[in-house]
Amino acid sequence: MANPKRVLSGIQPSGRLTIGNYIGAMKSYVALQEEHDCYYMIADLHGITVPQDPEALREQTEMVTALYVAIGLNPDKAAIFLQSHVPAHAELGWIMTTLSYMGELERMTQFKDKSAGKEAVGAGLFVYPPLMAADILLYKAHLVPVGDDQKQHLELTRDLAGRFNHRFGETLVVPEPLIPKLGARIMSLDDASKKMSKSNPNPGSYIAMLDSPDDIRKKISRAKTDLGREIAYDPEEKPEISNLITIFSQCSGKSVPDIEKAYEGQGYGTFKKDVAEAVVSALEPIQARYADIRASGEIHRILKDGADRAAAVADATLREAKQAMGFLLPRR
Ligand code: TYM
Repeated sequence: MANPKRVLSGIQPSGRLTIGNYIGAMKSYVALQEEHDCYYMIADLHGITVPQDPEALREQTEMVTALYVAIGLNPDKAAIFLQSHVPAHAELGWIMTTLSYMGELERMTQFKDKSAGKEAVGAGLFVYPPLMAADILLYKAHLVPVGDDQKQHLELTRDLAGRFNHRFGETLVVPEPLIPKLGARIMSLDDASKKMSKSNPNPGSYIAMLDSPDDIRKKISRAKTDLGREIAYDPEEKPEISNLITIFSQCSGKSVPDIEKAYEGQGYGTFKKDVAEAVVSALEPIQARYADIRASGEIHRILKDGADRAAAVADATLREAKQAMGFLLPRR
């Protein structure tokens, strides 16, 4: 390894993962594992900040774990683990909550979006960002691969790390977000002003990573398009087509200018068919591996091994942080 860095990221096991999760974050996970020291968790403690069904939580946790391996993460290289298997997350999460100000948590747009119009809002949703900060800071991660919607949480994490170090002495690493240049915000297929999301009640608005090829073709053929018939990347003027170009580029490896050139003078019909085929080809091998992994029963061994490796790092940082704060540590 030339200059290995510590990497941490995570995904909530809430609903079916979409190609937004894949393009915005998971593709980077795979690229980073070759050169860096990577920790990828399933954020199940975050998953319970909105009401959950126990059976669904179990199923979706296994699903995300199997998808991590199916996209090409190698559990011998990257540690794959559940947040709830490493108790240090909850503990440093509490510490980070005590360092957070109400005002800064109230400004979090994800909190505002998720609580808007709700009569009862769980307190866990409010203190979600300091728990996310703890996830990252426990590993002294330098790099955090995420989509654009997590940028504000990363800013808060950086502020909390700085605040901790300022008050208690240099202990934590201030992390950098790693946000892809293209595809950091994949939009809904039915409305390009909204982020593609697994929690959208309209399944036609997103492509799930485990959607069948036929569903993918149907969803893309029905995707909303802009006026006119030109295939041009212009997120301001042509947001719907630009979103499809982004998905096409990220699933095929073709550059945006190459795509624009290839479809010059052609209508939306052929273009959409080709976008669908590119998505199907990108997901088919992942889906095949996914089925194998679920059938193999390997998931629990992978999670056990991942949690052991993660806890070794996380426990050491937690101990250091508590010592710096003046906690009396148990004698070892
Ligand atoms: P979550 O589970 O909502 O999403 C997981 C990752 O997918 C990215 N993403 C997208 N990227 C592009 N376009 C989209 N439409 C799209 N939708 C989702 C997200 O940006 C994210 O990177 N709070 C986090 C989970 C978390 C975490 C962490 C992440 C908990 N602790 C520590 C990093 C580090 C979340 O809810 O992501």
